[in-house]
Amino acid sequence: FLPEKVTIIEVGPRDGLQNEKLFVPTEIKKQFIAELRKAGLREMELTSFVSPKWVPQMGDAAEIVAACLDEDSRDIVLAPNRKGIDRLYSTNCKAVAVFVGVSNSFNLKNINKTTSDSMTELKPIIHELKQKNYFVRACISTAFYCPYEGKIDESDTLALCREFVEAGVDELSVADTIGMAAPNEAYSLFSKLKAEFPDTLITAHFHDTRKLALANILASLQAGVDRFDTSAGGLGGCPFAPGASGNAATEDVVYMLERMGIDTSVDLKKLMDAIEVVRPHLSRQIETGYYQLHTQT
Ligand code: HMG
Ligand code: MG
Repeated sequence: FLPEKVTIIEVGPRDGLQNEKLFVPTEIKKQFIAELRKAGLREMELTSFVSPKWVPQMGDAAEIVAACLDEDSRDIVLAPNRKGIDRLYSTNCKAVAVFVGVSNSFNLKNINKTTSDSMTELKPIIHELKQKNYFVRACISTAFYCPYEGKIDESDTLALCREFVEAGVDELSVADTIGMAAPNEAYSLFSKLKAEFPDTLITAHFHDTRKLALANILASLQAGVDRFDTSAGGLGGCPFAPGASGNAATEDVVYMLERMGIDTSVDLKKLMDAIEVVRPHLSRQIETGYYQLHTQT
């Protein structure tokens, strides 16, 4: 059994750019987001309300949100703490992603708090957000492996997901931060998540460090997942997760799904136009299969 339709959550403007060394001009980011919308992407992480000292690339977040919100889309902004949520409240954005690592060591590197201190801070915030009718997504980092602690117990990941569901989140985006999961591990975790949390949106977020993202997506589809975080051009990576390279590429995932007869509502040709907007401003090449084929022909 495979779904007829899959939702792609475009994370290029956020995960895709946050690790980029050169500052991408704000006007280019705005144009990138606009072109991604034209390609049919209706759920998108626009930017992050994080410390600009920690992630300078996201320093223009307020301007991006002010300029880019689209009422027909679910536009998501990341926020790690109370300060990020207060920044969110000063905008019209109605969807937020909080993020926590299963691994304590990773969480300390990423947001300077232990996992349990992050949860203590976030639970009342999630309650407040839900009372105000915000859409709340929880990103679960290092759900399979951690760059500092190695393999993560599946039961620890499930326990953290359970805490978020009990706190009232709408969506769990469960991440293979350093692209180390194998398809059997993806199948196992996502089968359990789908069975235990039938009323929560379950999304898979794979990084393609070892070129297993597509295989992991297929395994997750077989486990019942119909939502995937992907990044145009396969850009991405977390600055605090050494070795994490790009996300599963939107174009490769869309190509695979459409070939399988699964509808994504994404127009690949327009997606290539979106990639062309940011490509000249990046320090890296775009090496995804679909992009290379497209530019050769
Ligand atoms: P800290 O230094 O412990 O924070 O950093 P603090 O509370 O002590 O504040 C220090 C300074 O930061 C103060 O400013 C605060 O006002 C400011 P100062 O007085 O020095 O001028 N500050 C902020 N400014 C703007 N927005 C905020 C904010 N909070 C404090 N929200 C902090 C703690 C969480 C701020 C920091 O560690 C941080 O910004 N971390 C973000 C890291 C990040 O963005 N990581 C990437 C996203 S997660 C990811 O990529 C994984 C994911 O893709 C899934 C996966 O693949 O695994 C989602
Ligand atoms: Mg990521």
